[in-house]
Amino acid sequence: MSKNLLQVNASIFSKDGQTTRLADQFVTGWRKQNPGAAVVVRDLAREPVPHLTAERFHAFITPADARNAEQRAAVAHSDALIDELRRADVIVLAVPMYNFDVPSTLKAYFDHIARAGVTFKYTEKGPVGLLDGKQVYVFTARGGYYAGTAADTHSAYLRNFLRLLGITDVEFVYAEGLAMGDAPKQKGLAEAQQAVARIVTQLNQQDAVAA
Ligand SMILES: Cc1cc2nc3c(=O)[nH]c(=O)nc-3n(C[C@H](O)[C@H](O)[C@H](O)COP(=O)(O)O)c2cc1C
Repeated sequence: MSKNLLQVNASIFSKDGQTTRLADQFVTGWRKQNPGAAVVVRDLAREPVPHLTAERFHAFITPADARNAEQRAAVAHSDALIDELRRADVIVLAVPMYNFDVPSTLKAYFDHIARAGVTFKYTEKGPVGLLDGKQVYVFTARGGYYAGTAADTHSAYLRNFLRLLGITDVEFVYAEGLAMGDAPKQKGLAEAQQAVARIVTQLNQQDAVAA
């Protein structure tokens, strides 16, 4: 059965972002292994999702038969983003660090896909995600060095958010030191590109074993 892949790009530089380039490198390799696959690219710089407002949030929690036209439009937009996620077996997130956190465009997107009763539900034991069975790859880039340290709240936030939706199979690739001078930048990018190539090779080997 052919797989579906969703690539969400969050760099303000769109296709020229370092994170987009790493994600593109992965998707090119992945496509070769999955020639019949559908790939959907959502570029949040070119097509931003609006900030969540009280009006939009109320539209989400108003029963379907009581929504007015404006509320129906807001919910339809959120539903379309969620459908795109549901259809994806593999989700690729290209996520730069901006001012210690994810780009605000990605946060706005997350605010539209985290919907109680739709992508997660509240239970007596806390929230339970409803989008399980997905593999996520996060391609991130930073000016400094954070990976593996307590200062990497960026990765922790992404893992926490994805867990809310029921997604726990998450692999990160880091390009770090990109603002530390030319040599550290080239080293950081080369290491990240090698990490992407390793993941693609591993996926090839897994497919060969499964065949
Ligand atoms: C607006 C802005 C804010 C940034 N803030 C940080 C930061 O807080 N910490 C950091 O290590 N790098 C920071 N950087 C550096 C970026 O993480 C780095 O340039 C990375 O390549 C951005 O990814 P992109 O090229 O895919 O957009 C910032 C860059 C920009 C443009």
